[in-house]
Amino acid sequence: MASKIYDCIACIGNAIIENKDFLTDLDREIGDADHGVNMARGFTEVLAAIPQDETDLGVVLKKVGMTLLSKVGGASGPLYGTAYMKAAGVVAGKTEVTLEDGKAMFEAVIGGIQMRGKAVKGEKTMLDALIPAQEAYNAAVDGGDDAVTALTKAVEAAKEGVEFTKTIAATKGRASYLGERSIGHQDPGATSATITLECIRDFIAG
Ligand SMILES: Nc1ncnc2c1ncn2[C@@H]1O[C@H](COP(=O)(O)OP(=O)(O)OP(=O)(O)O)[C@@H](O)[C@H]1O
Ligand SMILES: [Mg+2]
Repeated sequence: MASKIYDCIACIGNAIIENKDFLTDLDREIGDADHGVNMARGFTEVLAAIPQDETDLGVVLKKVGMTLLSKVGGASGPLYGTAYMKAAGVVAGKTEVTLEDGKAMFEAVIGGIQMRGKAVKGEKTMLDALIPAQEAYNAAVDGGDDAVTALTKAVEAAKEGVEFTKTIAATKGRASYLGERSIGHQDPGATSATITLECIRDFIAG
């Protein structure tokens, strides 16, 4: 029987693959029409590479990260690859994620993406979904919410972050070449990050 972490990654991978054309179309507007293609190719490799019965979260997440790093080009491969590697570091040797682990994972993921990509909030990137999601998650946990409620609030904040990306010009990545003309379009990476968070929430909610 497949482990829970395998099922969770499969849930994310299948959602990314289902949204391949949508993500690619978003990237066609402000980039080079490859975000969905890149991510779907990466997750097809991930689903073939990760061991189904492994329960050590760190082992599985590290394999996801290494696969994305080695198989996905562009900006998103190194960024998502780093994100999964950093998440793996937080839960190495563990088989369950506590609410506090969740906080540490958000911190490590966002820190890793920023270390690689040097972006901050408000540059029309995946961080415009992830940073508000982190803030909402942390506030919810501090307020006593359970994991599903905290992640639901994180997803809502990420979706608002995606809407926010429509209102700003890109200053990082390929979309920055368009300058002000990138306004009015939602960021593909913020969208794929939100899809990822939604899968994690849905998976944990059962
Ligand atoms: N410096 C960065 N920090 C965080 N996210 C970034 C950065 N640069 C780009 N991104 C994210 O990557 C997404 C684009 O990913 P995609 O897979 O299309 O790579 P790409 O930009 O086409 O790469 P390349 O330009 O190398 O071909 C953007 O929508 C944005 O969210
Ligand atoms: Mg692209």
